[in-house]
Amino acid sequence: MKKILITGGAGFIGSHVVRRFVNQYPDYHVFNLDALTYAGNLENLRDVEDASNYTFVKGDITDAAFLDALFAEHDFHGVIHLAAESHVDRSISDPLAFVVTNVLGTVNLLNAARKAWKGDLENHGATNRLFYHVSTDEVYGELHDPNEFFLETTRYDPRSPYSASKASSDHFVRAYHSTYKMPVVISNCSNNYGPNHFPEKLIPLMIHNIMQNKPLPVYGEGENVRDWLYVEDHARAIDVIFHKGRRGETYNIGGHNEWKNLDLVLLLCKIMDEKLGRPQGTSEQLITYVTDRAGHDLRYAIDATRLKTELGWEPSLQFAEGLEKTVDWYLTNQEWLTNVTSGNYQKYYEEMYGN
Ligand code: NAD
Ligand code: TYD
Repeated sequence: MKKILITGGAGFIGSHVVRRFVNQYPDYHVFNLDALTYAGNLENLRDVEDASNYTFVKGDITDAAFLDALFAEHDFHGVIHLAAESHVDRSISDPLAFVVTNVLGTVNLLNAARKAWKGDLENHGATNRLFYHVSTDEVYGELHDPNEFFLETTRYDPRSPYSASKASSDHFVRAYHSTYKMPVVISNCSNNYGPNHFPEKLIPLMIHNIMQNKPLPVYGEGENVRDWLYVEDHARAIDVIFHKGRRGETYNIGGHNEWKNLDLVLLLCKIMDEKLGRPQGTSEQLITYVTDRAGHDLRYAIDATRLKTELGWEPSLQFAEGLEKTVDWYLTNQEWLTNVTSGNYQKYYEEMYGN
């Protein structure tokens, strides 16, 4: 049985990746390594927690000794690295936390893999191993020309502490490939949405606030553009890249689905009014224009041609369908929302796993 280590598997995207790998690959044993920060939630994985090919490991990627011991105990065939601090606004108020987790944590993980795979790296280039680093399109900075898209060759130009930390981690991953022949692959994905998204990010925050009749904070004039991809489509892309991606290569992943923030919030208001049986126009009255985010990137848009032509991946879900699935999930999982916003899970995990 091949052992696969997925980091950050209790988070939003990681939980969808873990579920996919546990269900699709009974011949893999999936280890989910997660520190269970505010963003990590084992409730996301209730449906697979008893699977015989799944093990949860509570641990912190900033702890190098812990990682070395874990890699010494288990002969991991592959690593899919998603653990990170992921929220731009938090990175603006506490940049160092992002350096520690996203940069130091990634280098610790690379070092642990390097030590454990030393023989393979020296002898045959470790073609039997893979270190897959999951990154973001935000490393490319922002776009102004509406005809431009991010390509894999676009120059890095990170503009927030979050994107700077992710860019730095991408550079380390590539450096380990050149220097130590670490077999790596990187993907840079656009904004994800879907079930289990922590309600500090735009879409779940708006759904949550509409449900609670709270103000809907739109930054600036709501003119910024994001390219939205359903989270299960991202998990499927990761699966394809993990199995077929070329070593040393980068793949952009995106939805070709650009929305101005204000238009997206208005659409969510319309859907929520329908679902909640409120007269049309009720929720949009909650929209409140607030001070813009510092250094707010104007537009992100991905060109995912390489992934399509080389590996045959395309998004499967139309936005209308994905958004409806997402809204329905939040409406039927209100207890999840209450728990993640009240810190109930944190208390539960502390009792179960210690601090
Ligand atoms: P998330 O914040 O929902 O989850 C992050 C997970 O990492 C959590 O479970 C958290 O507990 C864990 N974690 C944080 N610090 C840790 C540490 N020191 N040690 C171990 N675990 C730790 O994030 P997400 O939105 O699921 O993003 C996952 C990855 O995908 C990140 O690397 C992010 O940069 C990347 N990404 C996200 C998006 C997006 O739209 N959300 C888009 C492209 C790329
Ligand atoms: P976010 O979900 O934080 O993702 P990212 O900044 O990584 O793209 O934000 C998506 C967009 O929505 C971004 O342009 C900022 C904007 N935004 C708001 O207007 N209001 C909000 O309350 C939040 C969280 C985001």
